[in-house]
Amino acid sequence: MMDLKEKLRLFNQDNKALLATNFYNFETLKGVLTAAQMQDSAIILQLTQKSIDYMGLHNALALAKAGLKTYGVTGWVHLDHGGSLELVEACLKAGFDSVMYDGSELPLAQNIENTQKVVRMAASYGANVEAELGYIAKLDQSHDKIAYTRPADAQLFVEQTGVDALAVAIGTAHGFYTETPKLDFERLSAIKAKTRIPLVLHGGSGVPVPAIQRAISLGICKVNVATEIKNTFMKTLKSLLTETDEIDLRKVFPPATAAVNELIQGKLKMVNERFQPVS
Ligand code: 13P
Repeated sequence: MMDLKEKLRLFNQDNKALLATNFYNFETLKGVLTAAQMQDSAIILQLTQKSIDYMGLHNALALAKAGLKTYGVTGWVHLDHGGSLELVEACLKAGFDSVMYDGSELPLAQNIENTQKVVRMAASYGANVEAELGYIAKLDQSHDKIAYTRPADAQLFVEQTGVDALAVAIGTAHGFYTETPKLDFERLSAIKAKTRIPLVLHGGSGVPVPAIQRAISLGICKVNVATEIKNTFMKTLKSLLTETDEIDLRKVFPPATAAVNELIQGKLKMVNERFQPVS
């Protein structure tokens, strides 16, 4: 299988993007993977520190790798928002295909220095490295906290770190939006012109389809979706549980897994469809 670095490099040339979905347990993983199988699409499976703490690093990784094999899906396992060099190293050692080091809350020089270390560390594993520059509000933070990525900083950052992919702050935030987000496409184009590397859109949940597709046409090569997966799974489960006393969880979970499958099929179409030949 092609490594993720190479895949993103090719997608960067062709103005295409991969969908990157977070998973939290077997059921959400199954929903995502069966969707990718049905759409015959490659996918990135992401784990955050919280999901790693919840499932255990080796359990989570083994589950994802076995799932990719079982469902015949081309995919890669990626650390999402790695907050320390120790976590990044543990994931690389365990066999992750890709890691994100998130130093976005640090001063630029410190973010550069730490990302340089991660790039050096990942090189011996042949792993893909994503970093973040500018600041994309995290789940529990106010959306006012977005600090847009400055194109000149992005150029310096990419030159000095040699990072493979860069997450940019262009108007998205993690979690739900209270208002429809407006993406700064001009900024995205300027960052792309100065860096030429695959760019990553975080906070994909709730961003309108045309905005995502325009962002892909301007250089986004990886689109992250997490919150909508949790939301769809839990809302479906909740409504089922109010209607039944069934205790066989193997009968209760499948509709929630099916809802995730449907959600992700839609997201895959969103990311892939504009590349299908126009009939
Ligand atoms: P959402 O939870 O807003 O979809 O963001 C996902 C993400 O960017 C993960 O890094």
